[in-house]
Amino acid sequence: MEEKSRVLVVSGTGYIGRRIVRASLAQGHPTFVLMRPEIGLDVDKLQMLLSFKAQGARLLEASLDDHAGLVAAVKQVDVVISAMSGAHMRSHNLLLQHKIVEAIKEPGNIKLLLNTIFRMQRFLPSEFGMDPSRMTHALEPGRVTFDEKMELRRAIEESNIPHTYISANCFAAYFGPNLCQMRTLLPPKERVLVYGDGNVKAIFVDEDDVAAYTIKCIDDPRTMNKTIYLRPPDNILTQNEVIEKWEKLSGKVLSEKIHITAEEFLAPMKDLDFPNQVGVGHFYHIFYEGCLTNFEIGDDGAEATLLYPEVQYTRLDEYMKQYL
Ligand SMILES: NC(=O)c1ccc[n+]([C@@H]2O[C@H](COP(=O)([O-])OP(=O)(O)OC[C@H]3O[C@@H](n4cnc5c(N)ncnc54)[C@H](OP(=O)(O)O)[C@@H]3O)[C@@H](O)[C@H]2O)c1
Repeated sequence: MEEKSRVLVVSGTGYIGRRIVRASLAQGHPTFVLMRPEIGLDVDKLQMLLSFKAQGARLLEASLDDHAGLVAAVKQVDVVISAMSGAHMRSHNLLLQHKIVEAIKEPGNIKLLLNTIFRMQRFLPSEFGMDPSRMTHALEPGRVTFDEKMELRRAIEESNIPHTYISANCFAAYFGPNLCQMRTLLPPKERVLVYGDGNVKAIFVDEDDVAAYTIKCIDDPRTMNKTIYLRPPDNILTQNEVIEKWEKLSGKVLSEKIHITAEEFLAPMKDLDFPNQVGVGHFYHIFYEGCLTNFEIGDDGAEATLLYPEVQYTRLDEYMKQYL
């Protein structure tokens, strides 16, 4: 039987990272998870790490500031996946991934040398959202997410590190059951803001499916140095269609559907705090501009459900049933 690649997940306790760890184990990969000493007294994080260990993962202790420790961790594996948190809190965590790039390209890393020749080892940086290469026009300050992801891409490509970028579109929990509303994760009861005419297509993906497709990609030569877009056909929906699905599921028609123009949506942005300004920008690009669906995938990319038809992805209405 073909040997499965050995996977190191950095940021494995995060929202998407923990799912990637579980998917890696479920798909039979020897799975390693970075355990940072900086977690300090965060007992929930520690217990999550211990639960990964109980499921068969190996915990590798190293700080991102500990270059030698990071090199030692990276040397043990074939694939490094980072699920580092995004830039919502002005923290620029995404740029910490330069330290992972430095560890992978460490001259002593014979594995990289061999794997570059055989095109095996690869790095999947923290992306998992909109394709940053298509967001060069994005609004301030939300564009920081895309700018930082592009900065990382440049470092990876300049170092000739084999890679795959995962463009996961909308995580279902953040955009689906709340009927695409900001500042809540719960379904609205009466009143819903509809962006423009509500007919722009977006794409909603169950987070466990994001992880499953991510792991499917890692040993696949078809995904080498490409962007993989997650576009489950039944989950390519307009906001109106999402609302309709919820109304059908709940048996209740929402009484107030308030259409809001792009100008009205963007107007209050300047008075919001940073995370909400970032959020408004991202919502604008998704629901007014249609940035997830207004392009065809080119030769530098591929679509995950076509590559892996065997994955039974979750339809959004199925996902929303949890909220009834
Ligand atoms: N498509 C979407 O709808 C969507 C939604 C949200 C996020 N995203 C994207 O998904 C990716 C992951 O986001 P997430 O929400 O899953 O992240 P998250 O849960 O906020 O955090 C992920 C992990 O990052 C690590 N981390 C955080 N601060 C750190 C620091 N200062 N130093 C070192 N490590 C640190 C921690 O892992 P450890 O403690 O385990 O090391 C943390 O658990 C991002 O690229 C984000 O843009 C996409």
